[in-house]
Amino acid sequence: MRKIAVLTSGGDAPGMNAAIRAVVRTGIYEGMEVYGVEKGYEGLIDGELRQMTVSSVGGILHRGGTELRTARSERFMTEEGRKRAKTMLETFQIDGLVVIGGDGSMRGALELSEECGVNVMTLPGTIDNDLGYTDFTIGFDTAVNTVLSAISNIRDTSSAHDRTTVIEVMGRHCGDIALYAGLTGGAEYVLIPEAPVDVNELCRKILQGINRGKKHSIIIRAEGIDITSQELADTIHDRTGLDTKIVVLGYIQRGGSPTARDRMLASRMGYKAVQLLKAGSSSKAIGITGNEIVAYDLKDALEFKREPALELMDLANILSI
Ligand code: F6P
Repeated sequence: MRKIAVLTSGGDAPGMNAAIRAVVRTGIYEGMEVYGVEKGYEGLIDGELRQMTVSSVGGILHRGGTELRTARSERFMTEEGRKRAKTMLETFQIDGLVVIGGDGSMRGALELSEECGVNVMTLPGTIDNDLGYTDFTIGFDTAVNTVLSAISNIRDTSSAHDRTTVIEVMGRHCGDIALYAGLTGGAEYVLIPEAPVDVNELCRKILQGINRGKKHSIIIRAEGIDITSQELADTIHDRTGLDTKIVVLGYIQRGGSPTARDRMLASRMGYKAVQLLKAGSSSKAIGITGNEIVAYDLKDALEFKREPALELMDLANILSI
């Protein structure tokens, strides 16, 4: 193994830079040449590769986003696009590729490995925490902390105006950002796609809180649930008469300096990916189980069913009575 490349793909996540840095520096430490691919699979298809040095990843550990930039590549979804990507890897004589991204990026890596025989390693880079084979993904902890800080600010103003606020958070079909931030932020109610939505219970809880002297209610709505934030706010207003606002947190959840936890996760996973490539292994998905960095066969990893954290949902409900 002499030349490896690294790319980030799909939605960016805080900690991707820490992962790039770990891959580059571990690779160089192990005597490899390391290339960075710009803009994910798009850049791979277009041959946008540049050799990385120890200093080209200096000063990025604490930064959100991704220095290599990222994209959701439609061309890579075609066989022709993947063939072209393989040709580029041959042109640059790359014999191992580290892909940092979410579910779609991992599936792309699997296809590249199966169809074209490219040695790939994947690192779970997404704020969503929606991958079944790993306890946590890179970026999730930072996103939860960003939501947490937003909840604190919104609670101040909601309380001052006796308001109910529906805060919409990201996560696609996964409710983990909503659940972790709602539980740790003391939200009055959390709605996630993995648990049934009971609007009666929600309104009852809000009214019970008001009757006890509460001045605000914070409702966290994961973007993946069926009922929209507007419908939810309208229903709450109709049934309780309360002034109900909506805050869609959006892309602020994807930015910001990664937390220590995300930097640690990214650093350990990046290191592991290079060590596995060095040992001659291929087609692996790196994850974390407990506090151990693990590697699964990529195909198997993608088939893991995600277990929804329903016991945390119960806890959130108990603690917000
Ligand atoms: O997968 C990360 C994520 O931020 C999701 O939480 C969100 O639904 C989606 O990406 C938004 O994607 P885009 O950047 O294409 O708008």
